[in-house]
Amino acid sequence: MASREGGRKGCSIQGAGPSSAAAEKVHRAANKRFLNFILRSQASFLGGGNLPNSCEARWVYYDFSQLSAHNAYKLLVSTIVPRPIAWIVSQNAQGKLNCAPFSFFNVMAGDPPTMVVGIGSREQGGPKDSLRNILETGEFVIHLVNEEMARSMNVTATPFAYGVSEVEKAGLSTAPSLQVKPPRLAASPVAFECQLIQTVPVSESNTIVIARALACHIEERYLLDAEKCYVNTPELKLIGRMHGAGWYATTQELFQMDRYTVDQWESSQESSSSSG
Ligand SMILES: Cc1cc2nc3c(=O)[nH]c(=O)nc-3n(C[C@H](O)[C@H](O)[C@H](O)COP(=O)(O)O)c2cc1C
Repeated sequence: MASREGGRKGCSIQGAGPSSAAAEKVHRAANKRFLNFILRSQASFLGGGNLPNSCEARWVYYDFSQLSAHNAYKLLVSTIVPRPIAWIVSQNAQGKLNCAPFSFFNVMAGDPPTMVVGIGSREQGGPKDSLRNILETGEFVIHLVNEEMARSMNVTATPFAYGVSEVEKAGLSTAPSLQVKPPRLAASPVAFECQLIQTVPVSESNTIVIARALACHIEERYLLDAEKCYVNTPELKLIGRMHGAGWYATTQELFQMDRYTVDQWESSQESSSSSG
């Protein structure tokens, strides 16, 4: 169970007692610096002026060692959002297809192209079929999910028995891959052919899969310039996994923010201090 300081075990409210006064002072200074920075440089864009006064904020502290796995999971998946969804097609040694979505997923390196996926256990225990197949054959295809494919993706998250093909259940058609045995989903706008590099078991019920992407398929209409590998990302209309049961985000509300060079940062500081 989560708990508050001096009350339930596992979490505490910061900023409310003398023991946290020093930490709060540091937080306040950092928050103030950050707010000043935002207000100076980006406020008009972010709609500044409506920013909360974080000096008055109170914090709840959770010690993961004191939390149930379920509550820790809730904090993680409710805050680390949106998460891209790896829609994985794998195959067992007999060639039976499997398909399932995983949002504990991201790209970890560009050279060589490296991706990770976190796979848990089946509710009744034992590895999920995707992990079983990946361990068995070392090959799979990761697709990204667009708005159009969301409902089919959701069907493939149904915990069908081992050996049942979610590709068939969801009525998905496939196209051959070129470097790995599992085929790709024909209707998905982006697919990566992947080879297993390593699995890292982090507990009895959770395994991290590290994979190298050998090849990428992108539907041509989503490319601005195929030679230069320019992708029309907004047009892909990809979705991400949000919090709680069944919430998703689209990728349509975008904003752009250029990075500073050191010189630009220095001169922005000078001009803001000279303007008072
Ligand atoms: C959007 C979405 C994201 C998911 N992300 C994960 C995940 O990151 N890890 C995981 O173990 N299960 C995740 N699941 C649940 C699996 O998709 C589900 O357990 C599925 O039945 C596994 O299929 P398999 O046994 O055929 O591999 C997710 C489900 C959905 C709908």
